Amino acid sequence: MRVLNHLFENNKRWAENIKAQDAEFFSKLSQQQSPAYLWIGCSDSRVPANQIVGLLPGELFVHRNVANVVVHTDLNCLSTVQYAVDVLKVRHIIVCGHYACGGVRAALLDQRYGLIDNWLRYVQDVRQKYDPQLAAIRDETRRWDRLCELNVIEQAVNVCQTTIVQDAWERGQELTVHGWIYSVQDGLLHDLNLCVNSPGEIAAEYQSALSVLNSPANK
Ligand code: CO
Repeated sequence: MRVLNHLFENNKRWAENIKAQDAEFFSKLSQQQSPAYLWIGCSDSRVPANQIVGLLPGELFVHRNVANVVVHTDLNCLSTVQYAVDVLKVRHIIVCGHYACGGVRAALLDQRYGLIDNWLRYVQDVRQKYDPQLAAIRDETRRWDRLCELNVIEQAVNVCQTTIVQDAWERGQELTVHGWIYSVQDGLLHDLNLCVNSPGEIAAEYQSALSVLNSPANK
């Protein structure tokens, strides 16, 4: 007996809808994929990458983990980035965090959930790095939001510093790394003003993203 029948029903309807608009859609897609974007986002069920940016199957290469963390020893993430950059030749890598991220909250408040605590240690590293700035924010939700934003900036810089991205820039490949954040409350994306096209831009883009966060409008 097939379980989760309703999901198979949904799937059939979904495929039929797409074929109604373009009868050749799946047969064309089965030949090849050539996405222009790599999305690195959180696993959170409220942050479905393709839907948020209105892209179809074949248009977005995706890596998701809890709290959209990019670690230089994570073979899973690095392999995705390497395949996307070297083989698929994506032109943009989007690191997209989201407000109200449970992983970020756990890291902020030292909540314990088990094995995941070890993964969230990377977000606690971000928290520690910006401790004075975070401590100055009195409102708890704003402090949580800020760590969500800072985490995106840090992880996007980590992407820039991978050997994969550095080598791509070195050989003149066009590649831009972006830092974005998504609001689960209204479904809207926000640019965190980090947009890096070359190794020489990392420091300035990092500083500009931080200075926008720290501007009076964002306090
Ligand atoms: Co999250």
